[in-house]
Amino acid sequence: MFSKKTQDGALPPSKYRMGGKHFKNDAAFVKTAVRDVKRLERYCALGTDSRLLDWGCGAGRLAVGVREHFGRIADYHGVDVQPELVEWAEENLAGPGFRFTCVDVSNERYNPDGTPERTLSAEPGSVDVFYAYSVFSHMNDEDTPAYLQLIGEALAPEGRAFVTCFVEEDVPGWEENPEGYGPLEWKGRLHCTRFARWHFEDHVNAARLAVDRFEYGRETDGQSLYVLRKR
Ligand SMILES: C[S@@+](CC[C@H](N)C(=O)[O-])C[C@H]1O[C@@H](n2cnc3c(N)ncnc32)[C@H](O)[C@@H]1O
Repeated sequence: MFSKKTQDGALPPSKYRMGGKHFKNDAAFVKTAVRDVKRLERYCALGTDSRLLDWGCGAGRLAVGVREHFGRIADYHGVDVQPELVEWAEENLAGPGFRFTCVDVSNERYNPDGTPERTLSAEPGSVDVFYAYSVFSHMNDEDTPAYLQLIGEALAPEGRAFVTCFVEEDVPGWEENPEGYGPLEWKGRLHCTRFARWHFEDHVNAARLAVDRFEYGRETDGQSLYVLRKR
């Protein structure tokens, strides 16, 4: 069991930190995690009695933020497709109120040999706060609407989903690694997936979700933030 304070708990080694240069330095890693937990508190009513699903959790960056800000909550559940990251998180961050699950589902970038059977590993109506940071930024245009549908099913009636993705006006509906876009040279499958705003919001709408908040372009590498709720 870890102590309430981050300085007494482990941080993932830098090779396990997804999200590029932004999360390499320890102080920045913890700072972004706490910033996001505070935003979940403000925008999605995250509190100590919440059930939080951190989808695409990597090695558990957000869990570090929850530990730092709240100590613990009712249920932090981190889910990812990369076994080595989830194993690290299980060994170093799991404890009362914190659990992790590895799902062997397919993502062309992170788990190309996984099964096409999609799952969030959550019971219907069981999630108060859903968090997916830089996950739809690496997702194809078939998985995206299907997972939005699953998010709608997993959310509790008053639940909220906090997700980031690349969206722009006046671009094709969905594109992989758009040339000359953003701060990086995109390499390899699904390094950057960008949606036209109307197209992403059509997927949101089809999943019977509504947009509660939209903030353009201020997240990692220029992603935008959506807070979604059930309709
Ligand atoms: C860029 S990383 C972001 C990690 C973390 N959310 C953060 O902000 O520190 C994207 C993560 O999404 C995970 N991922 C991609 N597709 C997934 C899926 N279908 N189910 C669960 N995790 C997935 C990847 O394995 C990877 O860890």
